[in-house]
Amino acid sequence: MQSLTSLLSTYDPLTGEIAGASTVERHLCDLRGCFADSAAFEAALARANPLLYSVAAVAPAQGEGELHYGVGKIMPGKIGDEYYMTKGHLHAWRPAAEFYFGLSGEGVMLLEDEATGESRMLPLRPNSAVYVPGFTAHRTMNVGPTPLTYIGVYPARAGHDYSTIAKANFRCIVVERDGKPVMLERPART
Ligand SMILES: [Fe+2]
Repeated sequence: MQSLTSLLSTYDPLTGEIAGASTVERHLCDLRGCFADSAAFEAALARANPLLYSVAAVAPAQGEGELHYGVGKIMPGKIGDEYYMTKGHLHAWRPAAEFYFGLSGEGVMLLEDEATGESRMLPLRPNSAVYVPGFTAHRTMNVGPTPLTYIGVYPARAGHDYSTIAKANFRCIVVERDGKPVMLERPART
């Protein structure tokens, strides 16, 4: 039997912190190429380089059948009309699915089937769970006025493939229209 410290962890649903866990922070400069409005991105970065999101992860064990989880926190804000978002990723082990559970704030998830490119936008908020199937790229946005926090639970062997998204980006973007998030086709680069 594993030690109690690997069997039990505690997280804060408002700050997104997990006691004793390592945390990755992404600032605006780390999201270069993610936002459709590159002029708005450069103008914002010239003014400041704020924290956009953080992810704390718990990885009790490696190997077949094991599970990991992470707590993400995305700050409120926009670049142009596009909400602050995560880089987004596929799982390195493509069949790996994932459950996301909203903790606080109001967000959406953008899912994109890697094979067909079919895109879906789903709400991520308290009392909602989003199932991300395998072979599906996923990105999370904060569409509300307060920090968004959520839990993601995934197979230990899932791994993260950021480079495929970094090269091609998602086919769709999520922007604010009349105060609401709307999914649109990504505009061609000019
Ligand atoms: Fe994931």
